[in-house]
Amino acid sequence: MKEIAPSLLAADFYDLKSQIEELNSTRIKYLHLDIMDGNYVPNISYGPDIIKNLRNHTDLIFDVHLMIEKPENYIDNFVDAGADIISFHPETTKHPNRLANYIKSKGVKAGIVLNTHVDESVLKYLIDDIDLILVMTVVPGFGGQSFIPQIMNKIENIRKIIDESNRDIILEVDGGIKIDNIKEVSDAGVDLFVAGSAVFNEKGITNNVNEFYKKLEN
Ligand code: DX5
Ligand code: ZN
Repeated sequence: MKEIAPSLLAADFYDLKSQIEELNSTRIKYLHLDIMDGNYVPNISYGPDIIKNLRNHTDLIFDVHLMIEKPENYIDNFVDAGADIISFHPETTKHPNRLANYIKSKGVKAGIVLNTHVDESVLKYLIDDIDLILVMTVVPGFGGQSFIPQIMNKIENIRKIIDESNRDIILEVDGGIKIDNIKEVSDAGVDLFVAGSAVFNEKGITNNVNEFYKKLEN
C-alpha cells in the first residue's frame, strides 16, 4: 500500500492539537518529523521533546528525518520520544553501518537519506543494514521548495536496486510532492511520499489527504 507522510514542518504550531486530531481522523498512517540543527542544514526546527509530547496523542507512525551532524549522539533521545523510524544522512556520521544497526537494536526502523548530490552507489555497502531509503527531491532545509525533476532517474535506479536486493525496504521521497506530480513519482516505484506544504494549507488537511490518495489509486 502506498502512503502519504505529512511533514509537521508545514503545520501551524499555534494549533498543533487540532491538526493532529484531524490527521488522526483521516486514513494517514505516518507522520514525518523533520529535525534540523542549523548546522547540517541552514535552518532549525524542533527536537525530541515536541515529539514526545505528540506521542501521547496519536498512534501515527513517527518517521523521524534527522538533518543533524553527529546523529549518533541523539538516537536515544528520539527512541525515547517515540520514534518508529529514524533516518539519517550518511555523510553526517563516520560509521553509517554501525549507526543503522544501533537504531535497529533499539527496535526502531533505520533509514538512510540520499541528499540530492549523493549518488545511489552509496547504497551498495549500506543496503543490507537498512529498512528504508529516503530520497531527497529538494535540497534539505526548508519546506515549500520545488521538486527537482532530475532526481526521477535516481528514484528509478533505486527502485531497481531494492528489487534486486530481495529485501523488504521502503522507498520514500521527500520534497516538492504535490497533488499534480505525485502520480508520476509513484509510477517510478515509490512507496511513501512526504508532503508538507501540500497537506497543511488553506484547502484543509482532510481534503488534501483525500486528493492525494485519489491520485495514488488511479
Ligand atoms: C525538507 C524537509 C521536508 C519538507 C517537505 O528539508 O525534509 O520534509 O518538510 O516539505 P514540502 O512538501 O513543502 O516540500
Ligand atoms: Zn524530511
